[in-house]
Amino acid sequence: MAFKPADKIQDLQYFGEFGGVNPSISDSSTYTFLSAKTMFDTFEGNADGCYLYSRHTSPSNLYLGQALAAMEGTETANVAASGMGAITPALLQMCKAGDHIVSSRTIYGGTYAFLKNFAPRLNIETSFVDITKLDQVEAAITENTKVLYCETVSNPLLEVADIEGLSKIAKKHNLQLLVDNTFSPLSLSPGKLGADVVLHSLTKFINGSSDTMGGVTCGTQEFIDSLRNVNDGANMLLGPAMDSLRAASILKNLRTLHIRIKQHSENALYLAEKFEADGLKTVYPGLKSHSGHEIYKKMMNKEYGFGGMLTVDAGSIDKANELMELMQERNLGYLAVSLGFYKTLFSAPGSSTSSEIPEDEQKEMGLSDGLIRFSIGLDNDIERTYTMMRECMVKVGILK
Ligand SMILES: Cc1ncc(COP(=O)(O)O)c(C=O)c1O
Repeated sequence: MAFKPADKIQDLQYFGEFGGVNPSISDSSTYTFLSAKTMFDTFEGNADGCYLYSRHTSPSNLYLGQALAAMEGTETANVAASGMGAITPALLQMCKAGDHIVSSRTIYGGTYAFLKNFAPRLNIETSFVDITKLDQVEAAITENTKVLYCETVSNPLLEVADIEGLSKIAKKHNLQLLVDNTFSPLSLSPGKLGADVVLHSLTKFINGSSDTMGGVTCGTQEFIDSLRNVNDGANMLLGPAMDSLRAASILKNLRTLHIRIKQHSENALYLAEKFEADGLKTVYPGLKSHSGHEIYKKMMNKEYGFGGMLTVDAGSIDKANELMELMQERNLGYLAVSLGFYKTLFSAPGSSTSSEIPEDEQKEMGLSDGLIRFSIGLDNDIERTYTMMRECMVKVGILK
């Protein structure tokens, strides 16, 4: 039966402390105990339903975690203060010194930098592979490999990972498959396709208003408990805890995610088809020309489309910069990193969000200088937007 993630969010029912339609916000960093014995049991992890201290968890954070776990179809989830605040503890919880990770080479620059430059300090090594080539993925596995890591749709090249194929490899070699689903919430449900842990930067589409940071780790109760363990839990001990007020505001935005994703996807598909027809080198998973189109179609929850992200190659960094500045001047969106906003955001990843990746490696993976990454907004009249964008492209000489 088809998985219906938006129904899972819709079906959640919460009553606030005074009968409010929103759950009450727990505006406390610490919690009282009626008996000292319960405090001891809570520290030992044996007192369900008791709160200890908000770095561990809080009622508001649990509500948001529950909603996101429902959306991804996992047992439970733990929210964090940023996407990186979810990703790095999850990796550190799974790997100790001497362990090895096989990761997609096209991932968000911050995650890449963590694996390439930071994790080796702890003697955790990573092999970067072309995630779309399952034979290369399997060949990179060593006896020390513990984790297979990828993004469902990668930042910024929009490569599509075959989650079922990767899950088979992970199971065969007894590895954990960690998948960052930031680019494709609702459209793709990696947890349902065999991923062990699903991660998100909530900063992007899920919150959708570019006013806060957030992250989530969705997985089994056992894994999430281990992250929060007071003795050796990476989230508990490294401390990337989300603030309760923010958890409450993100939960409210999550409720409109299905409407927003449909509009982002519809607008992005419209523009991608137009740009491609105009002769621009356009990458969008919804285009038949995209190498991951078929696998995306096979995996997707149909009604949400192919997401709001697309790339266009402007030919050179100078042309890319000229075009982005003009589009901002004409109020078509903002020259800014990040994604999932109501207005279109654009940036050149080679010199921004992926600048952590050395130039020669950028070239090898196909990240060209002139690449512009677009997070397409919720524009009501996308034809008007296209006409105005085309005018900008003609003005800077990318189109005739
Ligand atoms: C795919 C992806 N994962 C993770 C992150 C990191 O999230 P945050 O900036 O919320 O720490 C980003 C941020 O750009 C991202 O694009």
